[in-house]
Amino acid sequence: MRQKGGIPGAASAVEFVPANYFRPIAPAEMFSRAAAIEVDLGCGDGAYLKALAGQKQDRNFLGIERLRGRVHSACHKIQQADLGNARILCVEIAYAVAHLLPPHSIAVFHLMFPDPWPKRRHQHRRLVTVDFLASIHRALIPRGTLQIATDQRDYFRQIESVAAQSPQFTPISAQDPPAAQSTFEKRFCHTSIYRLGLRNVSDVT
Ligand SMILES: C[S@@+](CC[C@H](N)C(=O)[O-])C[C@H]1O[C@@H](n2cnc3c(N)ncnc32)[C@H](O)[C@@H]1O
Repeated sequence: MRQKGGIPGAASAVEFVPANYFRPIAPAEMFSRAAAIEVDLGCGDGAYLKALAGQKQDRNFLGIERLRGRVHSACHKIQQADLGNARILCVEIAYAVAHLLPPHSIAVFHLMFPDPWPKRRHQHRRLVTVDFLASIHRALIPRGTLQIATDQRDYFRQIESVAAQSPQFTPISAQDPPAAQSTFEKRFCHTSIYRLGLRNVSDVT
């Protein structure tokens, strides 16, 4: 399937480079056919995204990642697998979710092993906050979900607490076993992995 939106400077035709970073991106700009969209937040080298996109070819997949080297690896994997249903966007997650994804457009968000920032003085950098969940809620379709996995017990407890302050979500059991293993999970997680699913129970923004 031919990718749309390939431009010079992009890692490959798999990378989606918005023409305008100051307005929401219509799904039709990224994908050549209409289908439910799943987003992998902080997709790293794209291994998890590639596995999901291969398993569920009736859906569209978007990986969001800020590091250029990882964007290149992810694009390469998707291209080698000849998956026309996956794109990569190189941008900051919180900005993309709040400003680039249209309201009520995403069926599933995956947040696999977000940077844990274990030192107390760095914890304000953690991604999952009440405001972040409000942005996720805005972008999700009704009954859409956010799937989270982390090996950091302390961060997991914090995420549970933030979720409890967000009445637009209800906890659901996370996929067990998960649909695929991410690179981080395969390489580094030999201890407990904490998983949580959150379902959007309201369509009010
Ligand atoms: C610990 S790694 C996990 C990668 C992948 N999800 C996995 O499980 O293998 C976290 C990834 O999220 C990316 N990341 C962290 N914060 C980000 C942000 N604010 N915007 C975009 N990417 C981010 C990092 O560059 C890194 O690739």
